[in-house]
Amino acid sequence: MTTEGTCPEVRLSAHDLMVDPYGGFGRVREETPIARSSWDGAPVWIITRHEHVTEVLTDRRFSTTSAALPGGADVYAEVLHAMGISPELAPHLVGDLVRTGPPDHTRLRKIVLRAFSARRVAALRPRMRALTGALLDTLPDHARGGSVDLIEHFAQPLPTMVICELIGIPAADMPRWHGWSRDYTSADPRRLNRMLAEVDEHVRELAARRRAEPADDLIGELVRARADERLSERELVTMVLTLMMASQQPTPHLIGNAVLALLTHPGQLALLRADRSLLPGAVQELLRWCGPSVVALMRYATEDVTVAGTPIRRGDRVQLVLGSANHDPRRFPHPERLDLTRPPDTGGTAHLAYSRGEHYCLGATLASQEAEVALGALLDRHPGLALAVPPDEVEWKPLALTRQLARLPVTLGEPAR
Ligand code: HEM
Repeated sequence: MTTEGTCPEVRLSAHDLMVDPYGGFGRVREETPIARSSWDGAPVWIITRHEHVTEVLTDRRFSTTSAALPGGADVYAEVLHAMGISPELAPHLVGDLVRTGPPDHTRLRKIVLRAFSARRVAALRPRMRALTGALLDTLPDHARGGSVDLIEHFAQPLPTMVICELIGIPAADMPRWHGWSRDYTSADPRRLNRMLAEVDEHVRELAARRRAEPADDLIGELVRARADERLSERELVTMVLTLMMASQQPTPHLIGNAVLALLTHPGQLALLRADRSLLPGAVQELLRWCGPSVVALMRYATEDVTVAGTPIRRGDRVQLVLGSANHDPRRFPHPERLDLTRPPDTGGTAHLAYSRGEHYCLGATLASQEAEVALGALLDRHPGLALAVPPDEVEWKPLALTRQLARLPVTLGEPAR
């Protein structure tokens, strides 16, 4: 048994957190199942192995909010307050769905679950294909000096277009949501406050319009739930912002990371080009190998718990490293190998790129299907697609704990007829 006294302490460098999180956390994983560290100036447990990450994600004694602790205050809300985020608007950023537990979490998740069901998502496929085709039609127009940034002109707009349609946000409002998505990650209180006020007004207007003109989209669903008093007007606005950001932030980077992985693994790319039936499995393997979310939301122990033989005290914070669990050799043979033909028990959806348990990604089926449609259409349209810069010159965003390309310059080659 490891005890706190003997449990190794790791210092997480900027290199581990930003430049090479898979490698940095991978070294921790091979050294110890659980380590002590600090984050934002406070202690945190780091858990990196597939078995233990899964164990904590599915253990109801861990919560995504410190408010779940007896007498606990919401630390995240306090951070927002200290940053100068307006108290009336801060709940939109806290996000009810991601940072609550039952019964509120269950109530809110139930309202939106149907819109993200496998059946509803499958019904969206033809529309997704049409939107992808339209983006590919204009892609060559964005070429500068022979190369196109695939993030800006393909991977970024597609998920926004899709989620706007699903929610019922008019296409004309999409550019505003692109701007709000950038504000959301700015950490600039002035921009955040302005964005929150604008989103608040915009979503209340959308809801009012939907009350006057009912429709079978997600905003229609939320308006009906509001009428039945299953959610408040403030929760309705928060839900739309949460879904927009949860979709707009990671999905472009799954598409970008996947394209980069394929272009730098020509053997795997050739397999996929030769056999399109590999695509669904390939997307799951790409999620495992280079998924954009390196960690889950911070968890708080609401009771004393033992994990990997180490006692974790009530109130302790736990960082679950999904990206490292996805490269755990105890779960995935030769995890460093990108293998689009992995058998389902050691590949498939065994990965934790969408997390597990109560907060399992609501948009997992949607995001996987978007990636399938986007990759399939891109490869069909551009058989000569290639990187426009050497792989080690590709630029990553300087963000901790996510894997996001700043740009992905490619040459398109001749389009297929
Ligand atoms: C490649 C794309 C995506 C990745 C890698 C991803 C990843 C994740 C992860 C890791 C979590 C769980 C966090 C945790 O347990 O701490 C999560 C939650 C969530 N995701 Fe996704 N996500 C993606 C796309 C989407 C999309 C398209 C939507 C659509 C709206 C979405 C909506 C959500 C929501 C609402 C939650 C919170 C669920 C809850 O707390 O009950 N995600 N996602």
